[in-house]
Amino acid sequence: MNNKHNNSSNSLLNEGYTNTKHYFDGGKGSKILSNNKEYIDLSFGAGSLILGHNSKIYKDSIKDITKNNLSILASPNKQAFEFSKLLSKIFKNYSKFIFCNSGTEAIFKTLRIARTISKKEKIVSVTGSWHGSADSLLFTADKKLKPEPLSNGLSQENKKNLIFIPYNNIEKSKKILDKNKKKISCIIIEPIQGCLPTEKSKDYLQFLEKYSDKNKIILIFDEMITGLRSKDNSVQATFKIKPSISTFGKCLGGGMPIGIIAINKKIEMLLKNNKKKVFFGGTFSGNSISTYVGKKTTEFIYKNKKKIYQNLERKSIFFQKELNYFISKNNINAKIYRFGSLIRLVFSNREIDNRLQRDFFEKNSTNNIKKIKNFFYLNNINYPSNGLIFFSYSTSEKDVQKILKIFKLGLKKFF
Ligand SMILES: Cc1ncc(COP(=O)(O)O)c(C=O)c1O
Repeated sequence: MNNKHNNSSNSLLNEGYTNTKHYFDGGKGSKILSNNKEYIDLSFGAGSLILGHNSKIYKDSIKDITKNNLSILASPNKQAFEFSKLLSKIFKNYSKFIFCNSGTEAIFKTLRIARTISKKEKIVSVTGSWHGSADSLLFTADKKLKPEPLSNGLSQENKKNLIFIPYNNIEKSKKILDKNKKKISCIIIEPIQGCLPTEKSKDYLQFLEKYSDKNKIILIFDEMITGLRSKDNSVQATFKIKPSISTFGKCLGGGMPIGIIAINKKIEMLLKNNKKKVFFGGTFSGNSISTYVGKKTTEFIYKNKKKIYQNLERKSIFFQKELNYFISKNNINAKIYRFGSLIRLVFSNREIDNRLQRDFFEKNSTNNIKKIKNFFYLNNINYPSNGLIFFSYSTSEKDVQKILKIFKLGLKKFF
């Protein structure tokens, strides 16, 4: 594939394809490839390739698939069954798992479970959380926390049933929850947010847990990014919180499409006692290819977790410290935020607590943000379009040094 595509020859309407000259055609280790040119990748499949592109585990799994005649079966299969057994060893709070094909699918089916059990319609979402493109949650909060659609074509019902509470603001959140608690089915949150990854939210998450328990509201953690990305396997384990339902995905698929719903025993029993069936099925649900590669990858990460997470943390902490030191020494208007190996470069050096503030302080830099992203690309670094930076196990010390060099040059030039 070459890079000379222009929009008139482009018949794709997926996000990202309509206004770009950058097309990629492969990946190897820490690099993403375009027309035989290597770029240091900072996206790694939007966080799904924790071992890097085309890792040994991934390649071996693909070989096994053809050697052992693994196939799409659309029937109960051993691979899905075995992966679920491994998951219950890792995520001990949960008794059952439901395999989906994307994070979005896991999210909308999770909301279906919550509504079934609670018999209530209102969903509480937390500002700054991203849950994929499920219609019920494809909104952002305006300054007064009213839902603003992020897409055309969403029904008014979705808007009516959505309530926003402000991330990390216990007092305001409590007020809103108190006012609506009789109508609330569930609270869903991305516990550490990709839009501003920090560890500041522990108290807030513990408040949500207590509030949900007391008021019989279902608490859902969306750990699509954070699941299996840190040494404790999840944010809930790190902070010792037990949500009723969690969603996982990304790196648990080992590079294959996946979304996972995990429910605890209580939710399982309530679902069982429900007269009407809750529908989870689909042609590719629990498919043997995703679950085989997912299991192989997860098993490898779980077995080598000390080595893998130490490596990831060391590189990420070094990168953050080094760049933030450079930023403050040179009075640059930017700051690196980080949770584990999930990193974001925010184009403001103000102390920021949430997405709303981030957007506000970055507002005047839109043009320079565009320029610096292009500068990174011209210097062979693939800066993710959503701004969410991931390091992988395959990212080398040399890669980190090169990223630091280019980031420093770019920040000095444009900020
Ligand atoms: C926290 C979170 N939830 C849900 C999703 C949606 O997952 P998918 O893109 O696989 O539909 C994402 C994707 O980025 C995510 O980061």
